[in-house]
Amino acid sequence: MKIKVKSLNETKKLAQIFASLINKKGLFVTLTGDIGAGKTQFIRYVLEYLNVKDKITSPSFVILNEYKSDLCPIYHFDLYRLEEKGLKSIISELREYSKEGNLTFIEWAEFAHDEIPQNAFKINVYYDEDNVDIRWFEFIENENNKDFIENLSKKVAQ
Ligand SMILES: Nc1ncnc2c1ncn2[C@@H]1O[C@H](COP(=O)(O)OP(=O)(O)OP(=O)(O)O)[C@@H](O)[C@H]1O
Ligand SMILES: [Mg+2]
Repeated sequence: MKIKVKSLNETKKLAQIFASLINKKGLFVTLTGDIGAGKTQFIRYVLEYLNVKDKITSPSFVILNEYKSDLCPIYHFDLYRLEEKGLKSIISELREYSKEGNLTFIEWAEFAHDEIPQNAFKINVYYDEDNVDIRWFEFIENENNKDFIENLSKKVAQ
């Protein structure tokens, strides 16, 4: 399912709807796609909706940020700079936080593709080919997230 986003405000609305569908079981979300397409911004709005009080910054230099929320523990990996330290340095955290009961976002999941569970919720974020002001959020359906995506689609259309 693909959703067209034409402004930061539309990213915010989409992130809020996405966040409203997350429950205590959490989610393991991977974000891939074009550089600068809006992955961090989307995550930031999700965390804002979930009332995360800590300052939320892009963990470009920090590979893993942790947050607390009333819902469940939240983790944000940014694997872009992983090459400096290597996948091994974060593999145990990646496995631990992929378990149910955690809400985990992996930016630049391309860099850990062998370690991403099959049932991860995959989001691909990219620029429109013809219009640089348009970005697309593609939510990739799997056996675990069918209902979630159906609800997301319905709520976005409202
Ligand atoms: N829908 C949007 N409309 C306009 N500007 C946006 C939108 N989404 C994000 N931006 C802006 O684009 C810039 C890059 O966004 P962001 O850091 O979220 O991208 P990213 O995909 O995480 O980048 P990176 O690949 O470096 O991790 C930021 O200045 C952000 O505010
Ligand atoms: Mg980013």
